[in-house]
Amino acid sequence: MSRLLLLAFFLATIAAIVSAECPGGYTQRENGGNCYKVWHDFHWYRYAMSACEDEGGWLVTIRNAEDQAWVNNFYKQRQGHCHDDYWIGANDLQDEGHFRWLQDNSDVTWAVWRWGEPNDSSGEDCVNNNLYWNAWNDAGYEWQTYCFVCEMFPKSC
Ligand SMILES: *[C@@H]1O[C@H](CO)[C@@H](O)[C@H](O)[C@H]1NC(C)=O
Repeated sequence: MSRLLLLAFFLATIAAIVSAECPGGYTQRENGGNCYKVWHDFHWYRYAMSACEDEGGWLVTIRNAEDQAWVNNFYKQRQGHCHDDYWIGANDLQDEGHFRWLQDNSDVTWAVWRWGEPNDSSGEDCVNNNLYWNAWNDAGYEWQTYCFVCEMFPKSC
């Protein structure tokens, strides 16, 4: 019994060291950056939104070219059976043509739209990144299901 406890303690310690600042399943970006996780299930945008919120985070924010490269590469390494398209935290659900980030409702000031996008085709209000094109597209939250990336702040203690 005590040997089992010792083993459990040992494994928990290892797990704590490995996961450092991020909860299980999340990977920390270099230099104390945020924690990220790919969800390998196909879901509507609204589901993806609340799944990230439930974990204490948000659907991934991409504010510049460096973020775009990092997130896309992160997704690429973990893509598995997921499609090239995946949800990110930008949308213009509140105000057509005015894209904001779920993280803090801030404006999308940097974007890498695929040519001809966003086109609001049949009222597309949510945004997916595309691994292959390394660019964004507006997509329909109620008729498209994709895998997605959640992001959160690392634990500060
Ligand atoms: C708008 O973009 C979608 C992809 O989200 C594409 O399938 C569609 O053909 C485009 N529509 C027009 C009118 O360009």
